[in-house]
Amino acid sequence: MAPTKSTPVNVMMLGLLTLLLPPLSSTLGQSDNYIIHMDPTFMPKAYANTHAWHLATLSSILQSPTHTPESKLIYTYTDAIQGFAANLSPDELMALEAAPGFTSHMQDRSATIDTTYSPRFLGLNPYLGAWPASGYGKDVIIGMVDTGIWPESRSFRDDGFTDVPSTWRGKCEAGTQFNSSMCNKKLIGARFFNKGLIAMIPHANITMNSTRDIFGHGTHTSSTAAGRPVEGASFFGYAQGTAVGVAPMARVAMYKVFWDEGRAMSDVIAAIDQAIKDGVHVLSLSFGFDDVQLYEDPIAIATFSAIKKGIFVSTSAGNEGPRHGSLHNGIPWVITVAAGDMDRDFRGSITLGDGHSLNGTALFVGDSISIEDPIIFMGFCNDTSKLNKTRQILVLCEDEQILDYQLQSVRDSGVAGAIFITNVSSLDIFIPTPFPAVFVNHKDGETIKDYVMTSSDPKARLQFHQTVYKNRPAPRVASFTSRGPSSSCPAVLKPDIVAPGMLVLAAWPPNVGIDLLGSQTSAFNMISGTSMACPHITGVAALLRDIYPNWSPAAIRSAIMTTSYSIDSTNAPIKDTGFNDEPASPLAMGAGHVDPNKAMDPGLVYDATSQDYVNLMCALNFTEHQIKIITKSSSNDCSRASLDLNYPAFIAFYSVNTSSYPPIQEFRRTVTNVGDSTSSYKAEVTPMEGFDVTVVPDKLTFREKFEKLSFKLSIRGPKQMKKNKVIFGYLKWVETEMKHIVTSPIVATNIIMD
Ligand SMILES: *[C@@H]1O[C@H](CO)[C@@H](O)[C@H](O)[C@H]1NC(C)=O
Ligand SMILES: *[C@@H]1O[C@H](CO)[C@@H](O)[C@H](O)[C@H]1NC(C)=O
Ligand SMILES: *[C@@H]1O[C@H](CO)[C@@H](O)[C@H](O)[C@H]1NC(C)=O
Ligand SMILES: *[C@@H]1O[C@H](CO)[C@@H](O)[C@H](O)[C@H]1NC(C)=O
Ligand SMILES: *[C@@H]1O[C@H](CO)[C@@H](O)[C@H](O)[C@H]1NC(C)=O
Ligand SMILES: *[C@@H]1O[C@H](CO)[C@@H](O)[C@H](O)[C@H]1NC(C)=O
Ligand SMILES: *[C@@H]1O[C@H](CO)[C@@H](O)[C@H](O)[C@H]1NC(C)=O
Ligand SMILES: *[C@@H]1O[C@H](CO)[C@@H](O)[C@H](O)[C@H]1NC(C)=O
Ligand SMILES: *[C@@H]1O[C@H](CO)[C@@H](O)[C@H](O)[C@H]1NC(C)=O
Repeated sequence: MAPTKSTPVNVMMLGLLTLLLPPLSSTLGQSDNYIIHMDPTFMPKAYANTHAWHLATLSSILQSPTHTPESKLIYTYTDAIQGFAANLSPDELMALEAAPGFTSHMQDRSATIDTTYSPRFLGLNPYLGAWPASGYGKDVIIGMVDTGIWPESRSFRDDGFTDVPSTWRGKCEAGTQFNSSMCNKKLIGARFFNKGLIAMIPHANITMNSTRDIFGHGTHTSSTAAGRPVEGASFFGYAQGTAVGVAPMARVAMYKVFWDEGRAMSDVIAAIDQAIKDGVHVLSLSFGFDDVQLYEDPIAIATFSAIKKGIFVSTSAGNEGPRHGSLHNGIPWVITVAAGDMDRDFRGSITLGDGHSLNGTALFVGDSISIEDPIIFMGFCNDTSKLNKTRQILVLCEDEQILDYQLQSVRDSGVAGAIFITNVSSLDIFIPTPFPAVFVNHKDGETIKDYVMTSSDPKARLQFHQTVYKNRPAPRVASFTSRGPSSSCPAVLKPDIVAPGMLVLAAWPPNVGIDLLGSQTSAFNMISGTSMACPHITGVAALLRDIYPNWSPAAIRSAIMTTSYSIDSTNAPIKDTGFNDEPASPLAMGAGHVDPNKAMDPGLVYDATSQDYVNLMCALNFTEHQIKIITKSSSNDCSRASLDLNYPAFIAFYSVNTSSYPPIQEFRRTVTNVGDSTSSYKAEVTPMEGFDVTVVPDKLTFREKFEKLSFKLSIRGPKQMKKNKVIFGYLKWVETEMKHIVTSPIVATNIIMD
């Protein structure tokens, strides 16, 4: 399945993969961008500031008289990283390696980026729970690192907002079609970063050299996290209602780093560095870097500084599922968000010439029409020359799990419409079509086929624009969502949580064409991807941060995870559309689906400090230097190295047919009582086939608020396990009278990540 550039499917995949931009490339011998880590203890006192020291360091190694250090230096970093970004030739890089204070370098690289009904689906309401308790997130500033923003969108209006807090250090930068008065009390910051990109592609023409979004992604994610209510929103008549974000009173600051012309890691780091300085409380990063070690991953490195300052970081797991081990951002100090669907469906109905009527799935984005036409059976609809002869005729198509070729051919042929018989499980990404199309399952398909094949004058009528709710099990895990284990840190179970990421309706720049429709536009667009799931958790974290301003990012993450649910609307385990609707494992959905109202009151939290993450990195056998890149601290204490992070999730690895892993694996955890001062909990473990899980002690009795108690969880497994097995269960700390249930996923697997 390799759709070509212009298929409707691929266009829809834009919502998924989000930014299919030319990656940055460079030729050997030419200059390249490098991120240089510098040890600030080497900075001579004579320099007024770090920037001056970096310039002096560069000036000492420059080999061409035409270059000035100013022309070479792209960014000075102080928070996200200690060091700078510079454009250097191989010789200059070599010279720099000998300079005092140089510790290491990374080559610049490209990032993979991956309603509004969703707040209601999440259970948010004005009367009870997280919305009223947090004042809709009113004291929180969310930093979005993305493609920019459309400041005029009604989702970002500021009526009823108080003045911007005096502690805010952000700015509203002017640029192309963007002036400094375009921010307001809601959108309080707008900055853009492309010096790294321009250093890579010196003659790049930046079409929109400002924070203005001409792609749509950043406007969509920002309004999902924090959009104000906009009445009468819809996507071409579908999903009608009031569009609102998860934390509608939170303030937003946009840091634009992704450009039509490309994207550079050095710009991403500069944006996070600036967001930390500006004073954001929550960072939302709907993109990631694939196949990197933690000490090479700009998100891991830059966000460690954010976490140390109490900034919560939400990231997307990626859209490379359902392959195990495909996720990015498997970083122990951030939250990693997977995508699920909602109980909302878009429907088309089919009335056959014999009066029989059936319902299918449809999201035809054209005008609301009702067409009756002759219909013929075409089988696998990819032969355009045959299809071309069938204008004013409906075609009935049957697939072999391949929809994208058929969609492209049918679109190009100009047929009146199509019915697709398909059993593709993740239909949502295929159904937005620019031509009338209804998708049906094989059972209904047989009925239609029988009629079409046996009738002398087969006809069908298609009708569109029906949105239905609560009609089937929901949520389900999206097939495309990337799966754990985390390749950069397998010992910590990832992803962490599922949030809505299928066909999410949110704000869109009015002059950016909806891809499906060429030039047609809409103030709201409905797109899919973990990029859409991440800002939901950003919003939830903003609400929690408002209620508990002193909680650590780890405590907020724990509250979100341990109160999530793994049972769907029909009381069955949440299904995984990537694995034939089998129960979704924690490698697909983490702890479960987010429940913001419950997250407000978790009872117990699993907290972690930056020293805990250092202990983990020590046990990963990182060198002192690699740890320093992440912590930016000159001395890191490795005396308590441990892979056993105090995390609200457990993963144990077992061997296929060697004995490289012990049959009994132990985890030590400490929980903090954030509920009533006196409370007692009992451990319950769901059965895991072939494994025996014990918890000691299995009762925890707290006598005061914030008291910490520890326990040990042991998993006894077989010496050998069948290949590629994922066995899972849950540890639940159940409070007397079920006041709180604190749930953690447990995974035993032999999927080996290297
Ligand atoms: C973009 O705008 C900035 C700030 O206004 C300016 O310094 C820079 O030269 C511009 N870059 C391009 C490529 O136009
Ligand atoms: C910014 O742009 C708006 C709309 O184009 C305009 O009304 C306003 O006067 C401009 N402000 C400044 C400071 O240039
Ligand atoms: C930028 O635009 C100029 C003038 O239109 C053109 O000569 C140049 O090739 C363009 N640069 C790139 C990298 O496309
Ligand atoms: C199709 O859906 C409509 C409501 O949306 C319902 O009234 C009708 O009975 C359904 N038809 C079939 C055949 O299920
Ligand atoms: C239709 O699809 C089949 C199977 O993928 C392929 O072999 C065939 O070449 C395709 N035909 C056209 C006209 O694209
Ligand atoms: C889907 O249909 C194809 C052919 O009709 C079949 O080979 C395949 O096994 C079916 N898949 C599922 C998941 O039912
Ligand atoms: C017919 O088929 C060709 C490709 O074979 C395609 O380019 C063309 O757009 C099709 N549609 C019509 C309406 O002719
Ligand atoms: C780290 O090194 C120790 C000693 O060589 C080894 O036992 C351990 O398995 C290594 N840990 C990891 C995570 O590779
Ligand atoms: C088990 O070990 C044997 C010999 O070491 C190896 O050839 C075989 O591939 C292993 N089996 C599995 C399932 O890994």
